[in-house]
Amino acid sequence: MAEESSPGQPPEIDGSVPNSARIWNYWLGGKDNYPVDRRAGDQFRAVFPGIVEVARSSRRFLIRAVGYLAGEAQVRQFLDVGTGLPTEDNTHEVAQRVASDARVVYVDNDPVVLSHARALLTSTQGVTAYVDADLRDPERILAAAARTLDFEEPVALMLLGILGHVEDDDQARSIVRRLVGALPSGSYLTICDGTNDLYEAGVEAQRQYNQSGAVPYRLRSARQIAEFFEGLALVEPGLVSCPRWRPDPGEAPAETDAYGGVGRKP
Ligand SMILES: C[S@@+](CC[C@H](N)C(=O)[O-])C[C@H]1O[C@@H](n2cnc3c(N)ncnc32)[C@H](O)[C@@H]1O
Repeated sequence: MAEESSPGQPPEIDGSVPNSARIWNYWLGGKDNYPVDRRAGDQFRAVFPGIVEVARSSRRFLIRAVGYLAGEAQVRQFLDVGTGLPTEDNTHEVAQRVASDARVVYVDNDPVVLSHARALLTSTQGVTAYVDADLRDPERILAAAARTLDFEEPVALMLLGILGHVEDDDQARSIVRRLVGALPSGSYLTICDGTNDLYEAGVEAQRQYNQSGAVPYRLRSARQIAEFFEGLALVEPGLVSCPRWRPDPGEAPAETDAYGGVGRKP
């Protein structure tokens, strides 16, 4: 079964400004991007070539984290905020491969993602829903998600490659606190985010990108990212460079400047 929480009006897509979801799609090797996105993506890559591996290893982290959550942790409900454009192995596909009855709510505020949302709504047994909402409005997210998810049962909240879009640290922390606060004991928070600790070139590429007219992204230190897990118990191996989080056999334990972790609410 598939359902859509809020399809919204036909989206207006601005193809003249580089767009986070489309640039991410470009780095991942997808086709859902415009010349303006490829230019911005190439400029970023010229300053920091490691960004392509950051994007790809972040997706591989997502696949392993969702596999862990649906498998070992036996979570059946997912709230994935900052959906991105459909690619291989989206959250609902990974979760429903492990547990066919998994319920997945995607949330994004981008009309480009909204226009592709139907491609995400392809569950055959579980439920997949899409909500058009902004991370800065957690009340709206929670109200819409409650139409699909049972907040009496554990939920896996996924915030991958999105927290930097909230530039203010206090605001970002308060949003995470509000979302996690609404989840019952036994729920999980998964974060993957770019750090500014490791590579000067990465910080410089981000600085230039943030001046390009695209919606800016704030890199944080690993310590600041760890603070989002306040009150939660980090699942082993903690908050680490994405390729080091429970690597698959053959996965090189490389260092990238995207860090990922999963925390459990006691
Ligand atoms: C870098 S992509 C990450 C996609 C996916 N989570 C992943 O890890 O591959 C960031 C996504 O967050 C969405 N996004 C950015 N700011 C947002 C906001 N304030 N509220 C909701 N979604 C947002 C973008 O539209 C985009 O789809």
